[in-house]
Amino acid sequence: MRDHQGRTAIVTGAGSGIGRAIATRLASEGAAIAVLDVNEAGAAETIEMITSAGGRASFVYCDVANRDVVHEAVSAAVDMLGSLTYLVNNAGVVTMSGLADVTQQEWDFVLGVNLTGPFLVTQAAAPHLKAAGGGAVVNLSTVEASVVVASGPHCQPHYNASKGGIPMLTKALAVELSAQGTRVNAIAPGPINTRFTGGDITGPEAMEFMKTRLLIPRVGEPADIAAAASFLLSDDASYITGIELPVDGGWLTR
Ligand SMILES: NC(=O)c1ccc[n+]([C@@H]2O[C@H](COP(=O)([O-])OP(=O)(O)OC[C@H]3O[C@@H](n4cnc5c(N)ncnc54)[C@H](O)[C@@H]3O)[C@@H](O)[C@H]2O)c1
Repeated sequence: MRDHQGRTAIVTGAGSGIGRAIATRLASEGAAIAVLDVNEAGAAETIEMITSAGGRASFVYCDVANRDVVHEAVSAAVDMLGSLTYLVNNAGVVTMSGLADVTQQEWDFVLGVNLTGPFLVTQAAAPHLKAAGGGAVVNLSTVEASVVVASGPHCQPHYNASKGGIPMLTKALAVELSAQGTRVNAIAPGPINTRFTGGDITGPEAMEFMKTRLLIPRVGEPADIAAAASFLLSDDASYITGIELPVDGGWLTR
């Protein structure tokens, strides 16, 4: 357990999967959470999990790809939280289309949520992080920002391109926001057991493929990513900025 007492966090996409695990972990360690999501029902479940365990959380509707909505949502979240010390840019989408099939609408949708979203939310949040003394940002990347084999037979060039921008956006923001004392890092998950993967990735067929890459022979859980996010946001990581931390069972090692 880490100590996030008195800290306040916006977690985008916390209505499901990895974002929910990050939100519930930070809340269990003392942080107050604003869940920003387009999925109101999922967000309500996350908030119920946090509040029933004695934590503090509230929901603000936010489509991270829409600048006006983002600025209003971040402002409303900070009003509710009273300050902003952490931002987790986690919301993400994927569609399973290869080059021949991906439409421009799909391209714009995936780039809009996965790459424009972290830019817009960080732009809106940065003055509030500064006002709170600096704070920290964590962006969700993926091993697929570096390699294209991660989904086996499924090609998704738009997803690879959107996530490929995250390590460089992370570095650029780490440089620029260092002047205000804000640390910015990224996490690159390997295969994590959420609905995002569009199927059962724990079954024997999927494991057969993944075993050729994984050094730790299991699918990751959202809690594995939440543990890394809690560390990178915490004061224990106060000398770490601009990095992308793989949490991938060794996927990128060979
Ligand atoms: N699951 C994996 O294997 C895996 C691997 C690598 C990286 N990631 C990344 O982790 C992040 C979380 O993925 P997950 O597995 O938890 O997926 P998920 O589908 O379970 O959760 C994604 C959340 O983002 C929200 N969201 C989608 N579009 C949004 C928008 N426009 N505005 C605000 N919220 C929006 C969804 O409503 C949902 O609550 C994503 O960025 C994804 O790319 C996941």
